[in-house]
Order: sequence, then structure tokens, then C-alpha cells
Amino acid sequence: MLNKSPNKNILTGVKYTIAVSSGKGGVGKSTVAVNLAAVLIKEGYKTGLIDADIYGPSIPTMLGAATEKPKLVKIQEKNKLLPVVKYGIKMMSIGFLVDSKEAVVWRGPMASSALKQFMNDVAWDELDFLLYDMPPGTGDIQLTLTQSIPLTGSIIVTTPQEISLIDARKGAKMYGKVNVPVLGIIENMSYYSNKDGTKDYIFGKGGGKKLADELNINFLGEIAINTDIRVGGDEGKPIVLGKPDSTEAEQFTEIAKNMAQNILQNTKLNTKQPVIEV
Ligand SMILES: Nc1ncnc2c1ncn2[C@@H]1O[C@H](COP(=O)(O)OP(=O)(O)O)[C@@H](O)[C@H]1O
Ligand SMILES: [Mg+2]
Repeated sequence: MLNKSPNKNILTGVKYTIAVSSGKGGVGKSTVAVNLAAVLIKEGYKTGLIDADIYGPSIPTMLGAATEKPKLVKIQEKNKLLPVVKYGIKMMSIGFLVDSKEAVVWRGPMASSALKQFMNDVAWDELDFLLYDMPPGTGDIQLTLTQSIPLTGSIIVTTPQEISLIDARKGAKMYGKVNVPVLGIIENMSYYSNKDGTKDYIFGKGGGKKLADELNINFLGEIAINTDIRVGGDEGKPIVLGKPDSTEAEQFTEIAKNMAQNILQNTKLNTKQPVIEV
């Protein structure tokens, strides 16, 4: 059970909130976040995505929405931003609001207050899942998030490489300290599939699963390194939508479905902000 008491008056229409995290940058958090969000939409869940990487927003590009601007509306006398919607995913990113060169010179508190505004001042309406694409590390933004809302849980993305696993372990432990359940580990860039059907374990083999076992948390699955995944990100159409029949799309789909099922089965029903008992 969570034993902290963050503000329960925000995001009141949101059932489950999940931080997609890692210790290290460049391991594929944003790629995982957009693909999981797209699968959840395909599965019929109302899904939102907050780009919490204030200094390096990638959601607008990865979802092909880089030129969009959120609309400002008045709801019950209050100014609210409407999330940008693409492929059915509701999203908010600093990338929609300021020039990309501007946010990088902000100080920590400004980044944290931007994230708070994404929760307080955006008209999310009713959502089943709200995912947060987190920045790397265990800093201000992670703290702001865990202190602002009762997170359903976090997902840790890692590559099989030792240097990534060390940081993933730190990330998992940080969430443990603030009593946010780690829903599981996803190993990204697990291997490269050669044309002859063999697999090349470029970054080492089995590290994600080993870490999950060590920390006694779920291993949600592995995702291969593949050109179509990278192209999907660069071109703004996640592979699960662009190439839904590919093996890699199936890997994302399986992981997202398992995650959703785990959450639905393990949470108390009929509560607005369910808490997983671990
Ligand atoms: N499984 C994968 N196969 C190929 N390219 C990938 C894969 N996962 C991520 N990438 C690419 O690696 C880069 C970093 O990924 P990104 O999701 O931005 O990482 P992070 O959000 O952790 O910094 C991006 O260019 C992305 O397209
Ligand atoms: Mg990212």
C-alpha cells in the first residue's frame, strides 16, 4: 500500500497512472511509451501520454504531432489546455508550448512546475491509463511526480547492457523508497534478428530478466533492436500502428496487454486512483 498522501484532487477522471522510466537516457523509454500507448488505444482503453521529459521532449515527433498547438479553453471559469490528440492518444508536451531551445535553459523548479501544470491545467477528462514518458535519472521530475499524485506504478526500461542495468537498478530502488510499485522491467534492444533466423545479442543476453529476478519484480518482456522501430519514431508513426503484423509490434502488444491485465487484476475495483498492493 502507498503510505504517502499526495494530492488526490488532481487527475480525478484518471484511473491508472504509469511512469515509463529508466535510469539511463537513450534506452528507449519514449519509444516504449508511444508504442504502449498506441496498443492501449487499440485495445479500447482511453489513454493519455504526458511527456515529462521537459528538457528533451520527443513525444510530438514520435507521434507525428510536432506542428500541433494545444487549444486554450475555459472550463468552469478556469483556463485549461486541451490535449493534442493523435491516433486517439491524448498527449501533452512542453514541445507543443515553447521553442525546443527555450526549455533547455530552464532551471529545475520551472521544469517541475511545467509538469504540475500538465496535470492541473490540462483537460484530460476521463482516462483509463495516463502514461508518463519520464526523463532519465532520479531527479526533480521523478520527485515531483511521486509527490503530486498517487502513481499506480512505474515501468523500468533497460537495455541488457551492464551500464544500463546499473542505472535501472537505481531507478527501481528510487521508486521503492517512495513506495511506488514497480510494475515490471522491459528489456529493449534485446537482440538483432539476422536474416538467417539467428539472433545477435549485441548488448548482452538476459540482463533485464536477471535484474527483475534479483529485485523480485515482474519481467514484462523483451523488444528486439530493429530499423522499423527507429523509423517509426522518426516518422511519427509507432511500429504497432505502422507495421502491426511485425514481430516487434507483437512484442509491444503482448507487453502492453500483460501490463494492462496485471493492473486491472491487481487493483481494488471501483476506486478512482487504485493502489496496487505489493
Ligand atoms: N528497439 C529499438 N530498435 C531500434 N531503435 C530503437 C529501439 N528503441 C529505441 N530506438 C531508437 O533509439 C533512440 C533512443 O530511443 P528513445 O526512445 O528516444 O530513448 P529514451 O527516451 O530512453 O531517451 C531513438 O532514435 C529510437 O528510435
Ligand atoms: Mg525519451
